[in-house]
Amino acid sequence: MTQQNTTTFSSVGAVLQERLKETDETCPIHKINLISAFGKASICMECGREAIAKRDQELAEETMKEHVKRKTQYWLERRSVFLDETLRKASFENYKEDDEETARNKEQALKIAREYFSGATYNTIFTGKPGTGKSHLSMSMLKVVNEHSEPFRKCLFVSIDELMRRIKDSFKNKDSQYTEQRMIELLTGADLLVIDDLGAETGAIDSDKAASNFTTKTLYAIVNGRANKPTIITTNLNSKELTKMYDSKLISRMFRGAEGHIISFKETNDKRISVEF
Ligand SMILES: Nc1ncnc2c1ncn2[C@@H]1O[C@H](COP(=O)(O)OP(=O)(O)OP(=O)(O)O)[C@@H](O)[C@H]1O
Ligand SMILES: [Mg+2]
Ligand SMILES: [Zn+2]
Repeated sequence: MTQQNTTTFSSVGAVLQERLKETDETCPIHKINLISAFGKASICMECGREAIAKRDQELAEETMKEHVKRKTQYWLERRSVFLDETLRKASFENYKEDDEETARNKEQALKIAREYFSGATYNTIFTGKPGTGKSHLSMSMLKVVNEHSEPFRKCLFVSIDELMRRIKDSFKNKDSQYTEQRMIELLTGADLLVIDDLGAETGAIDSDKAASNFTTKTLYAIVNGRANKPTIITTNLNSKELTKMYDSKLISRMFRGAEGHIISFKETNDKRISVEF
């Protein structure tokens, strides 16, 4: 055996080299000779390298997108402030159209969600009786916007009653993450926000009680900081009752662009009451 033969047969690369035959055909793009491998169709090595690089790039982009998406889902799932765990499952899919009003309101909520998806910035008000699906529909709106937006949008659901309770608790609890400053930043930072159950935080059964200065100040900082971002507000109160409870500057900020985007429940039955007495 000659030196030449020993080298050839001892190296896998060299064996491959021997099976990869350069053909007379050239790649129209790269102007290099195509290679015929193991008797199969001839290929351009440069085109092959580019295809692999493109696939790697696509894979990296896909991973990045997943990462960002998870991050925004994290916002809605983990940063939201509310106690009613049943709301986590709320969606348009499981919202039943029991009567004309629920059907109409679901349709309107879907329409507004689509407009938010396309960049609308006006506010929406859900008003009406307890247990009629105001929180359910507003959560559903957040979910569709959160799931379908690209670039992804930070969506947040906040029960105003629970938020105020946590902020007040932070006054005496130094380790609390729910400081007034941080909560204002969180709520103004959200791209789409639900302020759930406005009015409940005053603890008033009848709606004659005025909101405290502290609540007014906090709410004002939030709605002021969201001048260009949409907010969905749910409440049991009507406009007259709201006006009694909050100062007019705050009300006018909260109702920004809400004309035509007020979803009200007047006839629907309370879905929480399943026993009659
Ligand atoms: N049309 C519906 N289809 C399916 N589930 C519903 C419907 N309406 C309400 N629910 C469910 O009933 C419960 C009460 O609804 P929800 O919390 O949305 O009421 P609400 O109008 O926000 O009441 P409140 O004014 O007391 O806050 C929730 O668990 C919700 O998922
Ligand atoms: Mg509610
Ligand atoms: Zn090529």
